[in-house]
Amino acid sequence: MNPSEEEGTLSKRKIIELLKTKNKEEVYRLYQIADKTRKKYMGDEIHLRGIIEFSNYCRRDCLYCGLRRSNARLHRYRMTFSEIFQTALKTQTLNFKTVVLQSGEDPAYRVEDLCLLIKKIKKELHLAITLCIGERPRQEYEVMKEAGADRFLLKHETSDYPLYKRLHPDLFYEDRLKCLSWLKELGYQVGSGNMVGLPGQSVESLAEDILLFKKLDVDMVGIGPFIPHYDTPLRNTKTGSLDAVLKIIAIARIVTKNAHIPATTAVGTIDPLGRQKALQCGANVIMPNITPQKYRRDYQIYPDKICIFEDAEDCHSCIQGMVKSLGRTIASSFGHSLKKRFKNLEEKDEKNIP
Ligand code: 5AD
Ligand code: FES
Repeated sequence: MNPSEEEGTLSKRKIIELLKTKNKEEVYRLYQIADKTRKKYMGDEIHLRGIIEFSNYCRRDCLYCGLRRSNARLHRYRMTFSEIFQTALKTQTLNFKTVVLQSGEDPAYRVEDLCLLIKKIKKELHLAITLCIGERPRQEYEVMKEAGADRFLLKHETSDYPLYKRLHPDLFYEDRLKCLSWLKELGYQVGSGNMVGLPGQSVESLAEDILLFKKLDVDMVGIGPFIPHYDTPLRNTKTGSLDAVLKIIAIARIVTKNAHIPATTAVGTIDPLGRQKALQCGANVIMPNITPQKYRRDYQIYPDKICIFEDAEDCHSCIQGMVKSLGRTIASSFGHSLKKRFKNLEEKDEKNIP
């Protein structure tokens, strides 16, 4: 990489070249540059975002996902608002500054009720709130933002149009992009992301995924390997490779500079040191699972997910050890977006004002 490439100006051709290379030294150099970029823009702090998987009902039928509505073998659950609030309280007790409310696309949670929950968490717990609940009408995104939601995660999953269509029988790529642009207009800190190693996914489309993160100027980027689930039509396909995931995290770091990038649970699932490796080539966030024990095993997006038998305290101490072993520290700020459009939040964050 030349100096301007190291500063984040990477062409599609160069990205493809990096994704294709098997030259160990070149790959090592890529990780080093990504780690340096992470240090320069994000520092050594790691942000913890406690995630509550509050419902595994989903109205969609995405081919790769264990929560797809056609999967009749999954035991379905919905947490009550009071259970969700109690779990959020736990997040606060563990000193996490952000709670992520994630579910399948479950219309049983009406927007008015979600707004009441968001308001209560904001008012009583002073946590940053990230929503990850799929596609909803613009007006619903709007009222949840007004209620106090700070961030929204909606991965584009793949920018390969025909592949997107094949994998999502009841979604449209255009709608996905529309939702992402609404969320941004409404003032959310927005996260997108992709899966790596999907059947039929090309290196070219992975390069496009990275360029899309840059084009959308997203605040957060979640990158994880595809892991085949035995109760889905993709049961006989291959798991995405760790090397490919790490390369994409590294390049995403270099091109997006100051986006928050998690070391995902999926990367920890395909390799026992996956998250540590991700944190050393660009990632700066971990999303510990704080879903109550009795529900965890049923949030089976993909098989063999880590942290199913642990509880929130176990994961917290595991992660503290991990952060320490890497010579990094756990952030005590909210870890809001560092993008210019959120300058006011960054200042509040420094002063630790909710
Ligand atoms: N393997 C890996 N990740 C998956 N996701 C869904 N199904 C799988 C799978 N089989 C990811 C998607 C989704 C997130 C919640 O989980 O990227 O956005
Ligand atoms: Fe859950 Fe390590 S993070 S056990």
